[in-house]
Amino acid sequence: MSVSIEKHEKNRIFSGIQPSGELHLGNYLGALKQFVDLQSEENECIYCIVDEHAITVPQDPKLLQKRILDLSALYISAGVDPKKSIIFVQSTVPAHAELSWILTCSSYTGELSRMTQFKSKSQGKESAPAGLFCYPVLMAADILVYDADEVPVGTDQTQHIELTRDIATRINNTRGETFVVPKGRYLKEGARIMALDDPSKKMSKSAENIHSRIGIMDDEKKIRKSIMRATTDSEAVVRFDPETKPGVSNLMNIYSVLTKESMADIETTYRGKGYGDFKKDLAGIVSEALSPIQSRFNEIRHSEELLTILKDGTEKASAIAVPVLRRAQERFGLGLPKRVD
Ligand code: AMP
Ligand code: TRP
Repeated sequence: MSVSIEKHEKNRIFSGIQPSGELHLGNYLGALKQFVDLQSEENECIYCIVDEHAITVPQDPKLLQKRILDLSALYISAGVDPKKSIIFVQSTVPAHAELSWILTCSSYTGELSRMTQFKSKSQGKESAPAGLFCYPVLMAADILVYDADEVPVGTDQTQHIELTRDIATRINNTRGETFVVPKGRYLKEGARIMALDDPSKKMSKSAENIHSRIGIMDDEKKIRKSIMRATTDSEAVVRFDPETKPGVSNLMNIYSVLTKESMADIETTYRGKGYGDFKKDLAGIVSEALSPIQSRFNEIRHSEELLTILKDGTEKASAIAVPVLRRAQERFGLGLPKRVD
């Protein structure tokens, strides 16, 4: 008798962020804020710090350890509640890497070479690290090893989620029901925050110009400066039109997600006013949203409690992941045979 998928009661949510640099407003609105908002009676949330993904590019070990703590503290200060959700570090649950190998053997080089993130990161290089190539398979393992139903991410991750679904469906079809096929959960507005200096690119932690992004830990002065400098257009009318007014529309998007005001309401508020007033108000709104997160971060970042939360998270996560790994191993005939006949 083979082990079947064990039903879980609540809607199970899984997501992760890499501890590979300072997080920005795009990460907050596209991912972290969703993590917080999804905590409810109906959902069981599991949030991971994906350190094994971070080493697909070289990392300094001391700095990576610091960033793991930074990101854990940020999850909590943004509102992820360790009493309601599981918070843990990927490399402390070996089942991810183990399942990843099984999935690698059911993946194709063709589909992996089509991933745009791989293409852009390896562009112009004769040879790329194999870890960068296999990155999406490890991500699929992260999700599938928890029987996750939904994965909240920014729309830049759509391709990886689709690949996860493809791999899960392929194995279910060839080996019998093994995995829950998960769905991506994308926040409509705010799912993609663009760079302030160039609204044709997404806001990213690697861009050279620090005014292209707003860091979650930025102070009011820096926030104001970056927003006042943001690229707009010469029309000087606050109107939402991503095609012809991408800069202003990106700023309105940020405004709308943080205040929950509709685009029409924002247009009405700023009718007859220039971009200056709008930008000044937006800078205030962003500072106000980030400031409580920053103070909580400073309280928790160096507390022993943070380590206790992470250790507890590892235990809770393993309790879910190990049986799912065993199920997958059984489908492939791996592991110690039960009998010698
Ligand atoms: P990364 O920083 O690329 O590891 O992304 C961490 C999370 O933030 C992922 O869920 C991304 O989809 C999301 N994210 C990254 N950049 C942006 C952006 N500019 N706008 C919205 N979401 C983003
Ligand atoms: N690839 C994701 C990113 O760059 C991070 C990630 C790794 C992830 N594993 C995951 C996101 C599992 C959601 C679920 O943002």
